[in-house]
Amino acid sequence: MAKTSICFPFLVFFTLISLTPPTTAESQQSPTYLGFVRNATEFPSEDYYDYVIVGGGTAGCPLAATLSQSHRVLLLERGSVPHGNPNLMTQEGFLHALTENDDFHSPAQSFTSEDGVPNARGRVLGGSSAINAGFYSRADQNFYARSGINWDLRIVNRSYEWVEKAIVFRPELKNWQSAVRDGLLEAGVDPYNGYSLDHLEGTKIGGSTFDLSGRRHSAADLLSYAKASNIQVAVYANVERVLLASAGSYYSGWRQSAIGVVYRDEIGGYHHAMVREKGEVVLSAGAIGSPQLLLLSGIGPRPYLSSWGIPVAHHLPNVGQFLYDNPRNGISIVPPVPLDHSLIQVVGITGSGAYLEAASNVVPFASLQRSVFIRASASPVYLTVATLMEKIIGPQSVGSLRLASTDVRVNPIVRFNYFSNPGDLERCVNGTRKIGDVLRSRSMEDFRFRQWYGGRDFRYVGPALPIDQSNDVLMGEFCRRTVSTIWHYHGGCLVGRVVDRNLRVMGIDSLRVVDGSVFTISPGTNPQATVLMLGRYFGMKMLRERTKHG
Ligand SMILES: Cc1cc2nc3c(=O)[nH]c(=O)nc-3n(C[C@H](O)[C@H](O)[C@H](O)COP(=O)(O)OP(=O)(O)OC[C@H]3O[C@@H](n4cnc5c(N)ncnc54)[C@H](O)[C@@H]3O)c2cc1C
Ligand SMILES: *[C@@H]1O[C@H](CO)[C@@H](O)[C@H](O)[C@H]1NC(C)=O
Ligand SMILES: *[C@@H]1O[C@H](CO)[C@@H](O)[C@H](O)[C@H]1NC(C)=O
Ligand SMILES: *[C@@H]1O[C@H](CO)[C@@H](O)[C@H](O)[C@H]1NC(C)=O
Repeated sequence: MAKTSICFPFLVFFTLISLTPPTTAESQQSPTYLGFVRNATEFPSEDYYDYVIVGGGTAGCPLAATLSQSHRVLLLERGSVPHGNPNLMTQEGFLHALTENDDFHSPAQSFTSEDGVPNARGRVLGGSSAINAGFYSRADQNFYARSGINWDLRIVNRSYEWVEKAIVFRPELKNWQSAVRDGLLEAGVDPYNGYSLDHLEGTKIGGSTFDLSGRRHSAADLLSYAKASNIQVAVYANVERVLLASAGSYYSGWRQSAIGVVYRDEIGGYHHAMVREKGEVVLSAGAIGSPQLLLLSGIGPRPYLSSWGIPVAHHLPNVGQFLYDNPRNGISIVPPVPLDHSLIQVVGITGSGAYLEAASNVVPFASLQRSVFIRASASPVYLTVATLMEKIIGPQSVGSLRLASTDVRVNPIVRFNYFSNPGDLERCVNGTRKIGDVLRSRSMEDFRFRQWYGGRDFRYVGPALPIDQSNDVLMGEFCRRTVSTIWHYHGGCLVGRVVDRNLRVMGIDSLRVVDGSVFTISPGTNPQATVLMLGRYFGMKMLRERTKHG
């Protein structure tokens, strides 16, 4: 695949200017859960728990909070807490957090796939829900049937509600999001469904984890539901490996069982977190982190592990395979009118394989002095880059992950093979064509510049759509050339291949994976609602299993 433009369209603009940190004052009240969060250095070198959860992310936090109702829980997170960091806690900080980067500490760990597309993963309590764009929309009904998980749909709904009453808000649309909503309807993405958290074909306003003052809420906030006397959260705790032991007898056969994990604190000290009888280790380290940890623990394809000198505990050929990322394509413009800052709030759910979304990022005028746009601009106080993008459903193109190092802190090598499946390219052609329809709508008139000859044109940042949008070949080339990520990568520990329908690692006792790595497709328009629900749902399920089996 051709080398692609860097992070188009969200980030292309920002490589040209210097970023000034957001000034929005973050309210300083500390959330209650901070009372049980401690630096990993303060933990004993060995301790026992009922549940050890690896990864304080989007699924890990609701899971830990739920299990703590009646069991002793340890949640291990490699990053820090998001509170107090304005880049994480405000909408305006979104791009700053993604560009602020250092190898082992920044809350967004960047990585570039072998496809050449820059990407990011959360490294902070709250996980990727603490660095994401905040859009919240439940899974489509097809997802439940296709996911391979044996859902009880009433408990699914109750789990969503549990999340939503704590961290989901109805956003207020400003000019760009309103115009996109109207443009989608003019372009035939109907009916209009108003504000809804459900997945409904047509155009709707979805939920947001940013509240009306622009403050972020994330999975970390769900720790407020935890029972403080039963939960401990260690930050700056890098889990290096799951500890396994053989159990059984000559007659019954031997089985491997997870008995704990080894983690390392910031000053290099080792700690053993062991599980008591009937306890479990749960990996919630995300689509990159969970397969990586299984491989480092000797659970994976035998020849591959041997090539790294990792002792093989259990041969499981599909660990790290079936990794997916949904391509994002679209356009960005600099409009003649000032725009408000917005992350995703409106979505167009088409019937032809693509979802359309939008964002607008305010850039202070002063920081544009050095940019290429200054001469051309009509000098508003703020300049904005407005983005219209599409994400395809699925995808069907399959990627994979492999280790770059046996050091868990080093990102694995990932490859997503965008558009290697022709159906994915067709969906992208459909989606980008729909973007063309929206751009031609009346609602977009105000965002075009008046030309000397009297016509009105958009001023693009980065590539425009091909002029002949009826040409499938040209549109397909545009998709390949401008491919970027919407950060919805998933898979790597697929249901049916690595874990069973109860998310237990196949062939190993007392070990589950509960996060986006088990998904075969990205749920709904954007996945975080479903991942948050999954954490709560499996917490409830594990509590019930414990009481049933004594
Ligand atoms: C920039 C960006 C924007 C996005 N925008 C949206 C959006 O607007 N709406 C939406 O629905 N979705 C969005 N997403 C996607 C969504 O946020 C993710 O799909 C979801 O958060 C993944 O959840 P998870 O629980 O699988 O993993 P994560 O939330 O990433 O959690 C994994 C956690 O495990 C920790 N961890 C990993 N390895 C270890 C280890 N060895 N030891 C200790 N801890 C470890 C990590 O630090 C992290 O906290 C976005 C994602 C990104 C990155
Ligand atoms: C965690 O504790 C260690 C040892 O006391 C210290 O060096 C480190 O700075 C602490 N980290 C944070 C972020 O507080
Ligand atoms: C779950 O909620 C959705 C609306 O979000 C509804 O359509 C569905 O019928 C509910 N399912 C159950 C089993 O209650
Ligand atoms: C693309 O759109 C066309 C026309 O709406 C539709 O027939 C086709 O099924 C769509 N392709 C995919 C892969 O959804």
